[in-house]
Amino acid sequence: MSNSTTANEHSVSPQDQSQGQAQEQNHNQGLEVDAQALVAQLPALDYDNGALKIEGVSVATLAKQYGTPSYIYSKQAILDAYHAYSDSFAEIPHKICYAVKANSNLAVLGILAREGAGFDIVSAGELARVIAAGGDPKRVVFSGVGKRADDIRFALETGIGCFNVESDSELELIQSVAAQLDKIASISLRVNPNVDAKTHPYISTGLKDNKFGISHERALEVYQQAAQMPNINIQGIDCHIGSQLTEVAPFIDALDKLIELIDDLRANGIELSHIDLGGGLGVQYIDESPISIADFAATLLPKLKALGLKVYFEPGRSIVANAGVLLTRVDVLKPTQHKNFAIVDAAMNDMIRPALYQAEMGIIPAQLTTDSADGAKTWDIVGAICETGDFLAKNRKLTLAVGDVLTITGAGAYGFVMSSNYNTRPRSAEVMVSKDQHQLIRQRELVEDLFATEQLWQAD
Ligand code: LLP
Repeated sequence: MSNSTTANEHSVSPQDQSQGQAQEQNHNQGLEVDAQALVAQLPALDYDNGALKIEGVSVATLAKQYGTPSYIYSKQAILDAYHAYSDSFAEIPHKICYAVKANSNLAVLGILAREGAGFDIVSAGELARVIAAGGDPKRVVFSGVGKRADDIRFALETGIGCFNVESDSELELIQSVAAQLDKIASISLRVNPNVDAKTHPYISTGLKDNKFGISHERALEVYQQAAQMPNINIQGIDCHIGSQLTEVAPFIDALDKLIELIDDLRANGIELSHIDLGGGLGVQYIDESPISIADFAATLLPKLKALGLKVYFEPGRSIVANAGVLLTRVDVLKPTQHKNFAIVDAAMNDMIRPALYQAEMGIIPAQLTTDSADGAKTWDIVGAICETGDFLAKNRKLTLAVGDVLTITGAGAYGFVMSSNYNTRPRSAEVMVSKDQHQLIRQRELVEDLFATEQLWQAD
């Protein structure tokens, strides 16, 4: 069991349980993350004489130039993770459709588009971003449970590759919009294989109680309906069972269920050209050891080769999480009788994962201090928002002083994209680093931006 991921995330082998107890204890005393050991495991980050660098640029320089809080991304780390997928599946026809929701900044999308990536989108807005970033709509798959007629129209007009259909009514809507436009819509059915992804309940999607997909038992019948629809071209089958999966077994279980279904479809005269296994591969936040992309591929390849279909994946987190950090500065230190609070300038509006999923993320200093053993205390790292749930980490053993820059690691996925303006806080800047170059890829919002589209009531 890991203390560094979301709650309820793991299977509980006896070994896991004993580790869990040890870490629980550790947690009560304050979790001490060995910053140097963590950084050694993460791409793009490095301590150079005690100063944290992302690629060739010191975090302190970036904090000074762009201010805090700021999200910083490494271009090389994004490319390396993308290529880990494309190289590992090179033996079979495949398409890596980056899940835009994980980090939708145009610069991130543009870097991936130039590598020939496909994209997994869940809204017309994400499709517009992909196009603005130079992505090819033909390489887009459109996921999501609530596609509306106008989303479908926009997707058909731009010529996306495939709709991942999640219900009978969505299938009928796609047929009717495609007929109005006199177009053929290529579709895949998202099958809910009823597999336990063993991840946090909020990010588990492949169980029959979840709102996603068409049940495995009903899929054949829905494919048969689709086969009768004049503006529908059946292209594939897909699933996505959850996110931050650290083991390969649930992926294999889901694949086996899909293979059974593909055999059934063949027996009923329905031939597919692709299978899409979704995203979900986990990453190391603190001390998890998720299966590597290469091992994931090696485990799946024999079954996929035998299947003979083109294979799609929709990875999000495993491409960008560890390519990004969130820089924040310590504003106030507030030791109390019971707890020590370090109030930093990032808050739950900037990074909601700890508050929403009890996620434990790495928080490490931008500058290592030499006297850490003496000065270390156990701190709750919290934001300035008026909510007790506004925390970035609890019980972390750190040596802190007001003005210190802290680095939240693993922040490249589901970080900025989930940020909000709660408490009328401007959203942070985003910066891309490549070797010794860096560029602002999103300006920090100004307070006046936040109410620029609002109006005073004028009627009476
Ligand atoms: N495909 C579909 C249909 C999805 O729903 C998702 C993520 C992905 C692909 C990408 O999954 P990934 O490779 O990133 O695990 N906000 C949560 C994660 C939500 C994931 C939602 N769906 C978090 O911060 O942990």
